[in-house]
Amino acid sequence: MKPNKPDTVIQLHQLRFHSYLSATDIQERVRQIGAELAEQLRGETPLYLVMLKGAFVFASDLIRATGLNGEVDFVRTSSYVGTVSSRRIKLLLPPDPELVRDRHVILIEDIVDSGYTMQHFLPELRKLRPASVTLVTLLHKPEATKVPVEIDYVGFSIPDKFVVGYGLDYNGLGRQLPAIYQLVEEMI
Ligand code: IMP
Ligand code: MG
Repeated sequence: MKPNKPDTVIQLHQLRFHSYLSATDIQERVRQIGAELAEQLRGETPLYLVMLKGAFVFASDLIRATGLNGEVDFVRTSSYVGTVSSRRIKLLLPPDPELVRDRHVILIEDIVDSGYTMQHFLPELRKLRPASVTLVTLLHKPEATKVPVEIDYVGFSIPDKFVVGYGLDYNGLGRQLPAIYQLVEEMI
C-alpha cells in the first residue's frame, strides 16, 4: 500500500478541485493498456481515431505505449455545457472515410459519462465500414450511464463526479494538468 499523499487543491474559474488520480498512476495504466492493444493488434496497421478535444493527451501517450505502426485521425463532437452532459450531440469534425474503410480502428476517448456521445457516434463510424472498432476510454463513470456503451478498455472506473486534467477541461481550463482532479462539492 502506498501512503496517502495529502490532497492538492486547485481552482479553475469559480470551482475547486482536489487531486484524484496521480500522473504516475495514469502513466502506469496507459502503459498496461498500450501493451494489451499491441498484443491484440499485432501485425496490423490500425487507425487511431482520437476524440477531440479531451482525448488528445491520453491519445498521445497511448499511441506511443502501443508501439504499433498506425495512422492517426481526429474526430470532434460536442455535447458538454459546463459540468453537465447534454443529449444533443453534434459531429463537428467527422473522420476521413478513406482512412476508416477496412481498417482496425482504435477509438480513443477521454471519458464515457452518459454514453450519449458514443451512442450517437459509433453507428456513424460503422457506416464507414471499418474492419473492427476497439473503444478505449481513459475514464468511465458507470453510475452516470444513460445509455449502455460497450467499451473494450477502461483506464479507470470513477464515481459520478466531474473531473479535470490530463486533457479534460472545465469550461476550457485544466487540460494541461498531468494528473486528474475531482470537483470539490461545497455547500454554498
Ligand atoms: P457523454 O456523452 O455523457 O458520455 O460524455 C462524453 C463527453 O463529455 C466526454 O468526451 C467529455 O468530453 C465530456 N465529459 C464527461 N464527463 C466529464 C468530466 O467529468 N469532465 C470533463 N469532461 C467530461
Ligand atoms: Mg470528449
